[in-house]
Amino acid sequence: MSRSQEHHKFEGWIGHDNTRHMVWGSFEPKPWEETDIEIEVTHCGICSSDIHVLRSGWGPTTYPVVVGHEIIGIAVRVGEDAKTDIRVGDRVGVGAQSDACLRRKPPATALDWSDCKECAKGKENRCAHASTTYNGCFYSAAANGAKTMGGYARYNRCPSHFVFKIPDALRSEHAAPMMCAGLTVYSALASVPSSDIGGLEQHLEGRKIGVVGIGGLGHLAIQLARAMGADYVVGISRGETKRDDAGKLEGLVGSTLSWALPDYGKLEVAVNELVVNGLTISGSLIGSTAEMREMLRLVTEKGIRPWVELRNMKDANQAIMDMEAGKAWYRLVLEA
Ligand SMILES: NC(=O)c1ccc[n+]([C@@H]2O[C@H](COP(=O)([O-])OP(=O)(O)OC[C@H]3O[C@@H](n4cnc5c(N)ncnc54)[C@H](OP(=O)(O)O)[C@@H]3O)[C@@H](O)[C@H]2O)c1
Ligand SMILES: [Zn+2]
Ligand SMILES: [Zn+2]
Repeated sequence: MSRSQEHHKFEGWIGHDNTRHMVWGSFEPKPWEETDIEIEVTHCGICSSDIHVLRSGWGPTTYPVVVGHEIIGIAVRVGEDAKTDIRVGDRVGVGAQSDACLRRKPPATALDWSDCKECAKGKENRCAHASTTYNGCFYSAAANGAKTMGGYARYNRCPSHFVFKIPDALRSEHAAPMMCAGLTVYSALASVPSSDIGGLEQHLEGRKIGVVGIGGLGHLAIQLARAMGADYVVGISRGETKRDDAGKLEGLVGSTLSWALPDYGKLEVAVNELVVNGLTISGSLIGSTAEMREMLRLVTEKGIRPWVELRNMKDANQAIMDMEAGKAWYRLVLEA
């Protein structure tokens, strides 16, 4: 396995509090472990979650924070013990999750997690110790609780378990939004009960799918629901402006699946509607590493592409403001 020991300077856009703009500066990555991969970031999508966390919208953020969890770049260092076929020079991605218990036991961690049922099932995203790519921490003994730092940066250092090889057919600016937005909506759609006899492409046969809010996640949900065989897909938007786009995405303007996470969000439901119609409400949290691979395969085969607008990494603050103002059409992607 080829490796590079070159010293990389970790710099990025640092959020220091919930009011000011991010400031470019250096930060300390997690301590290097031989199970890690170091990535030179070329692209990072802007997810609404970045803004929630920058603004402490989901509760107090542990500042300083570097957000960004739709990371694409080049592997510049691959640890000796990285369990992967990734080599130095490969194009790789990191999504919204950078660690989990992974059933480690002492001395690899302080606690014995060998009985984690979620990690045993390959559902790392449901692990009680799932850690986000920013505003989280790493769990190995060597990392000693080091903070996770996201992709609005020059480099990212991540345990190889959460680093994915990007298919050649997928351009980096298109791959970036798939790492969080794509995975989240794919996982939600894949969780819809199905006979699964026909495989992924027939998974939603006989289903009518409604997508509420046609933004970064929503416009991918429409495309993926079609690719997974839904009878028809209805995009539900607040205004008229996206009607034509919904048509181009092959959607039209049952169960309810929710991935939206508004600040202090609550969902009000008329219980009698649920009971009388036998409806189900479920939530979905990103997706597993297996689902990430399935999703990348599906979008490559089906030619699904997010609609992206590229911005220079140096303009990250402006891009965040534009995103907050609802100007993203449909995903802003920062390019180094
Ligand atoms: N569960 C997970 O694992 C997960 C993963 C990633 C993101 N998320 C969350 O998913 C949500 C969407 O993220 P995104 O990146 O797709 O954001 P986005 O690009 O801003 O899209 C959100 C869409 O929601 C609609 N919307 C915005 N404000 C609204 C309001 N006040 N009332 C009703 N609808 C509104 C808009 O669609 P229309 O203009 O069509 O109405 C907008 O395009 C965020 O809360 C994010 O944190 C969750
Ligand atoms: Zn996200
Ligand atoms: Zn676990």
